[in-house]
Amino acid sequence: MSDHDKRVALVTGANRGIGYAIARGLAEQEITAVLGVRDPNKGAAACSSLQDQGLDTHFELLDITDEKSIRTAVTHIQDRFDRLDILVNNAGIMIDGDANVLNVSQHTILKTLQTNVFGPLMLCQRCIPLMKAGGYGRIVNMASSLGSLTEMADPNSGYGEVETPAYRLSKAALNAITTLIAKEVRDENILVNSVCPGWVRTDMGGDQAPLTPEQGADTPLWLATLPDGGPSGGFFSERKQIPW
Ligand SMILES: NC(=O)c1ccc[n+]([C@@H]2O[C@H](COP(=O)([O-])OP(=O)(O)OC[C@H]3O[C@@H](n4cnc5c(N)ncnc54)[C@H](OP(=O)(O)O)[C@@H]3O)[C@@H](O)[C@H]2O)c1
Repeated sequence: MSDHDKRVALVTGANRGIGYAIARGLAEQEITAVLGVRDPNKGAAACSSLQDQGLDTHFELLDITDEKSIRTAVTHIQDRFDRLDILVNNAGIMIDGDANVLNVSQHTILKTLQTNVFGPLMLCQRCIPLMKAGGYGRIVNMASSLGSLTEMADPNSGYGEVETPAYRLSKAALNAITTLIAKEVRDENILVNSVCPGWVRTDMGGDQAPLTPEQGADTPLWLATLPDGGPSGGFFSERKQIPW
């Protein structure tokens, strides 16, 4: 396969955790993986550790809370590869501490929405024209079962004890973005889905989580490489559809 025929993927927050495992998994499938990372040192280190494993990875400076950074990163990808096939909106934060919905600060809500909602939306807006031009696109939004309205409304939900109100709100909003964009591009061979990776052992998930980052990356990787005609506008975990 010539370099020009290879698919190109952008994975945000790919310097560590699930994003790093997704970038590696894509590169292992002969896809050029661009790591979108906000810290140049972390980005260079993550990228070179994957290149040392013989993988085709590149690093792009990208802070998803900064519209100019998003614009510049996507322009670089366009100039360098002349295509973008896959976007994994993986970067995210959970900064609620022990706040609950009655006392969470406006600052915490705004900062969380800026990263977990507006960033992914702005990236979709910038990347979809490139996908349309190539007649192919796969967008994976890293949501969470904590953002499921079904779980929030269920008094017996297994997540009933978890507060993190800004985070839960942000992932519900991200799921809404998935449905709206999927509808907008439904005739374009661009498949847009949300995923919950499960409870994963990362800085965010903590060391009690049962899943490795590689296990958490499994369903995102499956969605990022769906065949034409695959599902779009859904919410998945363990490769199965789950309720919004
Ligand atoms: N771990 C879980 O159990 C779990 C469960 C459900 C859903 N998720 C979701 O899965 C995704 C990945 O989670 P994770 O556990 O791998 O988290 P993580 O280990 O905390 O990694 C988060 C990544 O996001 C990056 N990031 C944060 N803000 C950013 C910004 N403004 N611009 C660019 N990058 C930014 C971080 O970069 P820095 O290194 O620079 O901070 C880091 O690379 C998140 O969206 C999370 O909500 C995780």
